[in-house]
Amino acid sequence: NEIKIFSPATVANVSCGFDVLGFCLDSIGDEMVIRKTDRKGIFITKIEGYDLPFEAEKNVAGVSALAMYADAKPDFGFEIEIYKNIKPGSGVGSSSASAAGSVFGMNVLLGNPYNNTELSYFAMKGEALASQSEHADNIAPALFGGFTLVKSVSPLEILEIPTPNNLYATIIHPQIEIKTSEARAILPKEVALKDAISQWANVGSLIHGLHTSNYGLIERSLHDAIVEPHRSKLIPLYHDVKASAKAAGALGCGISGSGPSIFSLCEGIDAAKKVELAIRKVYANSDIEFDTYVSKIN
Ligand code: HSE
Repeated sequence: NEIKIFSPATVANVSCGFDVLGFCLDSIGDEMVIRKTDRKGIFITKIEGYDLPFEAEKNVAGVSALAMYADAKPDFGFEIEIYKNIKPGSGVGSSSASAAGSVFGMNVLLGNPYNNTELSYFAMKGEALASQSEHADNIAPALFGGFTLVKSVSPLEILEIPTPNNLYATIIHPQIEIKTSEARAILPKEVALKDAISQWANVGSLIHGLHTSNYGLIERSLHDAIVEPHRSKLIPLYHDVKASAKAAGALGCGISGSGPSIFSLCEGIDAAKKVELAIRKVYANSDIEFDTYVSKIN
């Protein structure tokens, strides 16, 4: 009648894969409790960690739950408790964790009638409330785990990409606010053909590198000719962080989702911790508050 779940943080875009690539972090996420209740409907009964709306229609976890509830039509309702650890607006899929968590938990309590792609569809409805656009690049890794590629949103098609065993992510979160909707609004509507060519070459080679655990190829693929030049302007010291991460041995470094968090991919936990130390120094010399964490990609 009740399930307690961990709903993970995720990194979207992964440099070259704007709106399509994402991966799942296994050491940071929200906790949620989903419970069946006799009264029909979706009720958010507890929120801890951050100040978020209790009305289901205004809460991303509530909106995704309502979308699934309308489809499943059970003769009972659900209560949702949200214990948020992922700061909203930090760029590591805070809204997706909530949106995916509620539908994942409800599905288990319903006896698993929906597969992960169907759950992603409902979760996207919640995510759209937060970012004003329907994209699934955080939702998909939160539900499937590991690396995912959203081949298409309509119809929704998600591919699971194998994750090399020794791949770790280091995240630094400078405590400034960037709204996803605003970070999307500054992007150009058209891209130059030469940038498009480099981008699809990198997406293809990154996927090949992930399939073959070719860390060198992964390293050479983590570039972004299209989005990073615009969004990096919103993140103070971005280029310094990137240079420090690379100098400390990161395979690559880029904006996590729409920022302000910055991710680095590393081969091995030792490299990831070395990168963490190096990039902490960049913000330690500024007046910007920050936090960092290292996670296996899982
Ligand atoms: N792909 C999305 C973006 C992820 O970069 O805008 C953030 O929600």
